[in-house]
Amino acid sequence: MPRLLHIDASAVPTGSVSREVAATFVGAWSGPVTHRDLGARPVPHLTGAGIAARFSPGHEWTAEQATAAFLQDALIGELLAAEAYLFAVPMYNFGAPSTFKAWLDQILVPGRVSGMRPEDSAVAGRPATLVSVRGGGYGPGTPKEGWDFAEPYLRKILTEVLGLELQVITAELTLADTTPGMEGLREAAAVSRAAAHEAARERAQRLTPQPA
Ligand SMILES: Cc1cc2nc3c(=O)[nH]c(=O)nc-3n(C[C@H](O)[C@H](O)[C@H](O)COP(=O)(O)O)c2cc1C
Repeated sequence: MPRLLHIDASAVPTGSVSREVAATFVGAWSGPVTHRDLGARPVPHLTGAGIAARFSPGHEWTAEQATAAFLQDALIGELLAAEAYLFAVPMYNFGAPSTFKAWLDQILVPGRVSGMRPEDSAVAGRPATLVSVRGGGYGPGTPKEGWDFAEPYLRKILTEVLGLELQVITAELTLADTTPGMEGLREAAAVSRAAAHEAARERAQRLTPQPA
């Protein structure tokens, strides 16, 4: 049974659409799951000590560098130990949450995790699912077309840096239920959310053999 690394990045513990869609995926997953909750327990930002530790042998590390290297080792070990990935990432201020970026900065160590080409990545070819959730709509012709710097960035990193076999599941317009002026978009929001749950269930079932 393949091990899934499931990462949540919503800062909101309940009522989070990305967490709920990810939960649907995990509910349909047959296999062990490692869960990292970046909303509840953000990882520290990459520091100068963490970068320096990558370029010097362990016996030369300061205490600060050793601590930083230990954290990178733990996060990279968790990444490498999984055979599949689920990233549940909302849009914050037109990009990915800083918690998810901090995690990427910790694990993206050239020569160890990433390489010159996608196929050189230590996790190349493994299946990944990105649950991409946002309050507004960014499709062609919408007022905010071109403002989504979350999903395009994450697609690039996950496919062209980490070399993952990626499916993106999107739920948008999640603010329609609560934001004045978006009432006319509530039905579209409900359709988008229902489709995301269905896609998540199907993807998990396709990736793992189901118990009889
Ligand atoms: C701090 C913050 C910033 C946000 N920025 C945006 C944004 O720039 N564009 C957008 O469409 N929605 C934005 N939203 C709305 C979220 O993307 C939306 O509420 C989404 O459902 C959050 O994911 P979650 O439901 O999994 O918590 C923002 C929400 C928060 C809390």
